[in-house]
Amino acid sequence: MEALINKSTCGDSRLLLSRIDSDSIDCVYMDPPFNSDSDYRLDPDSETGFNDEFDSDARYISLIEPMLIECKRALKEKGSLFFHISAAEMMIPNMLCRKYFRRVQPIFWKKSRSKNNIKNKLGATVDVIFWCSDHTKPKMNMVYQPLDEHYAANSYKNKDARGNYALGHIVYTATQKTKNKDRLYSIVQEGVTYAPQNGWRMAKADLQTMIKDNRIHFPSKAGANPYKKIYKHESKGKPCTDLWDDVYSIAQGSEKRVYPTQKPIALLDRIIRMTTDVGDIVLDPVAGAGTTGVAASLLDRRCILFDQNIEATKICMQRIAKEGKNGI
Ligand SMILES: C[S@@+](CC[C@H](N)C(=O)[O-])C[C@H]1O[C@@H](n2cnc3c(N)ncnc32)[C@H](O)[C@@H]1O
Repeated sequence: MEALINKSTCGDSRLLLSRIDSDSIDCVYMDPPFNSDSDYRLDPDSETGFNDEFDSDARYISLIEPMLIECKRALKEKGSLFFHISAAEMMIPNMLCRKYFRRVQPIFWKKSRSKNNIKNKLGATVDVIFWCSDHTKPKMNMVYQPLDEHYAANSYKNKDARGNYALGHIVYTATQKTKNKDRLYSIVQEGVTYAPQNGWRMAKADLQTMIKDNRIHFPSKAGANPYKKIYKHESKGKPCTDLWDDVYSIAQGSEKRVYPTQKPIALLDRIIRMTTDVGDIVLDPVAGAGTTGVAASLLDRRCILFDQNIEATKICMQRIAKEGKNGI
């Protein structure tokens, strides 16, 4: 398997995947043909691209099911597999992902804004990426999305010398009620006693440190709860949701398209950051132009890339050497 690392290998993944050790991969990203009945070539005479026409669903299943089974075998216990598909073709992958993985969460990627050339149907702007894991708590590093403008305008209304801030809960409600007796304490602030009957969400020492640092908002109304101040300028953004509308397709951005259906590096950057650490191994069994390899290299992860198209394999190696951090 060592010989496959940080390389793009040409061949049919249904055969190549058997060369990967079991329990060795941290993250798999697969963006296979979608069964969309289209021919994706850079131009009609080009060998660069692939044919996405299958004469039956059974034929399509015979392509992706063996890959899913082998990728699952190769994944570590807390590893993740991401299966990328158009919303229109999501039914078969949804069924197969749920057949082989215990936890499947669909992520909705808004890949484009609008379609100006559509007349008698709705423009398709969403791809689905099934995040699959066999563990209920797969390895995950929280990633953040930009704050929603509407939400930000309505939330960061309070202001002090440090800047605008929103209010974060620090006491439990009746339905949440703490079982921890240490959280049932009282504090006195400017002669007013605060003793929330369902308890505090933080230890007394932490609350006192925040009060000293002027990070607690005390109410002007008697009987109301105090809150912690969440400053806009300190916010990392919002914890990532299942709607990815902040990653732009390469058609709208600055990346050069060298392969049909090439995905943006920012999409792979999010997936890889979210589910791997430095040095981990990312596998892409249908690598196309090697976007997964470029993103992995930029994030100091190792990668294994397969594609049956020899032109794609060459493009992968060229792109990673040029756009990656360390080359491969
Ligand atoms: C949608 S493209 C991948 C695009 C890629 N995510 C990117 O950003 O460039 C799908 C790729 O799957 C490859 N492919 C199809 N069947 C394959 C198989 N059996 N084994 C390996 N690669 C395969 C095609 O050659 C094509 O390059």
